[in-house]
Amino acid sequence: MRKLIAAMKISVDGKMEGPEGSADWVEAWSDDYGLMPQIDACVLGGGMYPGYEQYWTSILKEPDKPVWITGSAPTSAEIEWARFAAQTPHYVLSSTLTSALWPMTRFVRGLEEITVLKQKPGKDIYLVGGARTTSSLIDAGLVDELRLIVYPLIAGQGKALFATMEHRRGLEVRKVQQLQGGRVSLIYIIG
Ligand SMILES: NC(=O)c1ccc[n+]([C@@H]2O[C@H](COP(=O)([O-])OP(=O)(O)OC[C@H]3O[C@@H](n4cnc5c(N)ncnc54)[C@H](OP(=O)(O)O)[C@@H]3O)[C@@H](O)[C@H]2O)c1
Repeated sequence: MRKLIAAMKISVDGKMEGPEGSADWVEAWSDDYGLMPQIDACVLGGGMYPGYEQYWTSILKEPDKPVWITGSAPTSAEIEWARFAAQTPHYVLSSTLTSALWPMTRFVRGLEEITVLKQKPGKDIYLVGGARTTSSLIDAGLVDELRLIVYPLIAGQGKALFATMEHRRGLEVRKVQQLQGGRVSLIYIIG
């Protein structure tokens, strides 16, 4: 069965965004998890989808212009992700959203559709976020691997990645690696 891999950039105190609604400590939203070669589909929540669509559409259409979350021109790694993502099916979990501008986007209305997606032939699937979706899919036992990039910062106020998790989960460490800028990459297998 295809693996569902959740990957997030968080602060040391487990925040995935600050009180203003974005993780302003993240300098680029590129695939720093090394996922591109092994995935051929993305899953994301309806909460983050509008911002995701806006961010990557802007990079795809105007790669020289500063983008709204980081306030800088996209990095070459972000442009690489935008091009890859535009050709990769995106499954957005939402009971309310009905229209999408991002290419190859489909809406899924319940977790059973994610189970079916995992059973289809293909490469692994990237669970892009956000917090509530990641927590509910881990609670449902659908996430096989968790990749975190931990930034050297205590964010204080903000939204915690696992604030809505209901069940305790044991994790098995697969890889720990120090990255540039004091960041730490952690890869866990979810048992
Ligand atoms: N730091 C990072 O690496 C990172 C990565 C990704 C995203 N983010 C941030 O995450 C934030 C969004 O996170 P969020 O927790 O607010 O929202 P979210 O997880 O993106 O979306 C939550 C929504 O997804 C749908 N959903 C989730 N679980 C479902 C289920 N089991 N069944 C049916 N629908 C389900 C519901 O949509 P409906 O209400 O439409 O039904 C729910 O309201 C954004 O601000 C984004 O910037 C950060």
